[in-house]
Amino acid sequence: MRVPFVAGNWKMNTTVTEAEELVYDILDTLDRIKGVEKVLCPPFVSLAAINMMLQGSSIKLGAQNMHFEIKGAYTGEISSLMLRELCEFVILGHSERRWYFGETGEMVNKKVKAALNQGLKPILCVGERLEENETGRTEEVVREQVTTALNGIKPTVLSVAKNLVVAYEPVWAIGAGKAASGKQAAATIKLIRSILAELWNKDIAQSLRILYGGSVTSNNIVEFISQPEIDGALVGGASLKAEEFLSIVNQTAEIKEKPV
Ligand code: PGA
Repeated sequence: MRVPFVAGNWKMNTTVTEAEELVYDILDTLDRIKGVEKVLCPPFVSLAAINMMLQGSSIKLGAQNMHFEIKGAYTGEISSLMLRELCEFVILGHSERRWYFGETGEMVNKKVKAALNQGLKPILCVGERLEENETGRTEEVVREQVTTALNGIKPTVLSVAKNLVVAYEPVWAIGAGKAASGKQAAATIKLIRSILAELWNKDIAQSLRILYGGSVTSNNIVEFISQPEIDGALVGGASLKAEEFLSIVNQTAEIKEKPV
């Protein structure tokens, strides 16, 4: 049984004060929702304050990126060693990092390895761009991104299965107000699971959570979460609105609770 998972990616939004206010608004209600792993990913500067606010709750914390080196002369960067004191998860390979900041598949691979080595749980993002989708290259692109990101990570590291979450985020659906359809997303997620089975083995692939991300809202979450292949969502814009995010997590809990 895969525990459903919903993470809010706040991106470069909220000052520390605003982040605290948002957590204050959702904390009690979110804490009480059972049967879903709930993760907030605020900007780096708010991690320490929110870590304090979440103490004793069922809500977990994640970062949005990190450098692959542990420490050293890398001005302005944040490492896995620093993050592990503050949070449990880290989003890696987000398409905004890949396409706006030139992050390569090799860099993502180094980051995934560094995170796992430090006991941080990566939320690894993969997804094709619009022209790749339109020219029928989704499978090729997603396969390349998954295999490169996980290159050299041994299946014998059994904890990999527990510690890795994958998010399928078609780039054309992110922040676009135009989500993929549930069926489309489920088909690509099924493909990702088969790639993981080839790479490691079927048991690991079956136990890993794979999320959908890209314009998820309280109005369309059911379409995704009602697909047995889809284990949850990585939510951007809608995670900045307390009511919206609570509704997304609530609906996820309700739908996934029902026996298939
Ligand atoms: P969005 O972002 O929900 O605003 O489309 C999702 C993401 O980038 O993780």
